[in-house]
Amino acid sequence: MSELKHLLAKNRAWAAGIKQEDPDFFKKLFAQQAPEYLWIGCADSRVPANQIVGMLPGELFVHRNIANMVIHSDLNCLSVIQYAVEVLAVKHIIVCGHYGCGGVKAAMETEEHGLIDNWLGHIRDVYRFHRQEFYVLQDAEERFDRLCELNVIEQVGNVCSTTFVKQAWKSGRQLSVHGCIYSIKDGILTELDVTITGPEQISSIYRQK
Ligand code: CO
Repeated sequence: MSELKHLLAKNRAWAAGIKQEDPDFFKKLFAQQAPEYLWIGCADSRVPANQIVGMLPGELFVHRNIANMVIHSDLNCLSVIQYAVEVLAVKHIIVCGHYGCGGVKAAMETEEHGLIDNWLGHIRDVYRFHRQEFYVLQDAEERFDRLCELNVIEQVGNVCSTTFVKQAWKSGRQLSVHGCIYSIKDGILTELDVTITGPEQISSIYRQK
């Protein structure tokens, strides 16, 4: 008996529920995907992209990794952004972080975690860029929360710095890059005030450093 039996049963029930609402739903999706949003989020199981914004299959193009990072040389993430911007022509890119992020927490610790420390080094850079702010914040929880937010803001800047996003703006395309943060405690998604809709606004992100 398959160890995934319960998952397959849930899948059948889910597909049947969708078909009940719209019998042609999967037929239409098979024909094409035309999402308006690219979601770049954390791999954390408690932050399921589609579910928390109530979106159906086909509505969100998703990339997730540990601590919702956009690294300038990460071919995986860059390929997703290129496809989303150049082929799917999404109108919005959302970087979504979350409070209580294990990746951000690990980056704040002094103990070693192995290979992942190389990935988390980028979050330590964010901490370093903002160290003046952290001198003032004494409460450990507040510092943790703030680094989760600043990490999102940094990644919004990194999305805006990609060649594909810059090219889209250059050619006059409408494309907004947003930063959001999700609270696992209450399920609420909050937009950080860092939406960028053109290259002239990029510096406002870096002014926050
Ligand atoms: Co996380």
